Amino acid sequence: MEKARSQQKAVKASIRQSQRSASTLRAASVFVGTARIVAKERYRNFCRLTFRCPEIAATARPGQFINVYLDGLGEGIPFERYGLPMAAILPRPFSIAKLLSLRKGEVSADEAPQAFSILFDLRGIGTHWLAQLTTDVPVRVAGPLGNGFWLLKGMRTAVLVAGGIGIAPFPFFAEWLKKQGVEPIVLLGARTAEHLPFDPVRAEFPLLRNGKPLSYWAIDEFESLGVRSAIALEEPKEGFFVGTVVQLLEAWLATQKEGEQIALYGCGPLPMLQALAAVAAQHRLPCQVSLEERMGCGIGICFGCPIPTNDGYKLCCTDGPVFNAHEVAWEQLLPPPSLVPHPVTRQGQSP
Ligand SMILES: Cc1cc2nc3c(=O)[nH]c(=O)nc-3n(C[C@H](O)[C@H](O)[C@H](O)COP(=O)(O)OP(=O)(O)OC[C@H]3O[C@@H](n4cnc5c(N)ncnc54)[C@H](O)[C@@H]3O)c2cc1C
Ligand code: FES
Repeated sequence: MEKARSQQKAVKASIRQSQRSASTLRAASVFVGTARIVAKERYRNFCRLTFRCPEIAATARPGQFINVYLDGLGEGIPFERYGLPMAAILPRPFSIAKLLSLRKGEVSADEAPQAFSILFDLRGIGTHWLAQLTTDVPVRVAGPLGNGFWLLKGMRTAVLVAGGIGIAPFPFFAEWLKKQGVEPIVLLGARTAEHLPFDPVRAEFPLLRNGKPLSYWAIDEFESLGVRSAIALEEPKEGFFVGTVVQLLEAWLATQKEGEQIALYGCGPLPMLQALAAVAAQHRLPCQVSLEERMGCGIGICFGCPIPTNDGYKLCCTDGPVFNAHEVAWEQLLPPPSLVPHPVTRQGQSP
């Protein structure tokens, strides 16, 4: 008990030292207020909500996130209906998936966007509640929060590697990269086609290996942005790359000349990100990962989201969620395989 307490103290002290003053400065530009839902899409197990909120849309950077509060503002659908008001206390963090203009007709390139969207899969009580809200409902939000992805000097190609819903921050990031003159390429992996957060479409300019497409299918969202993409499915399906998204990345990297100015960016489940970091190290490529740690406050107060790094503990919410993959202490972040519980089905029985 005493040992655990002193360990906890050490974590807190280590975090306090890390860029505290910088976090305080960043917090100054955070908007806290209500945003109205202006569009909603539900498909399979996913939901996309678009909020009118010029304050967040005008200052957000790719890789940043927002907090959504489930405190009964969602008119007509009080959260208490679910019988667990305590579950409403903690805000739910979501990546900013896209910035949008709400103006009709032609919009000039330098006009600030007025809306942003989030994309999420329905997991627990909060995401199910959010997915029931309708357009015009006001919701309390805070953002933009955290530190997003950063550009590296001289980079020409950014490969955005996503596992499942980890694709969420990449439409915003890909559009932004194009504006900076960097070519984005998006690789998305899922277990089956039913688990894809976006629809597959025939790739117009597929990624090739030995003159053949690695995947004949691309992602509709990115195809419409003019960004090349490819899909890996673990369960074989005709036309798709068969394997994990990191294997797809390795297959594509094998077609590239050494010395190409490539940077890797990842978002998805931890084991996938760890595998991505290993491939990046092997190819000596820079790599940034967006980490998803359970959060309390989301603004650096509760110390609830420590991330072990080679430079001590950092906070996922204010130092991240994006970290240099080569600085994350992966072996401390992931539990040893012997401690991972056996997979449990929805009925609570091992398969
Ligand atoms: C920086 C960041 C960005 C995220 N972006 C997205 C996104 O764009 N799309 C998306 O689908 N999901 C995203 N997540 C995960 C998302 O926050 C959780 O899926 C969501 O909070 C689950 O809420 P729930 O009430 O449905 O689940 P419950 O399990 O009922 O939640 C209980 C508590 O655990 C927390 N929690 C549960 N799962 C997670 C998780 N995986 N990560 C962090 N906290 C969790 C909840 O916030 C809540 O406080 C992100 C997480 C972080 C940290
Ligand atoms: S969530 Fe509270 S400090 Fe990060």
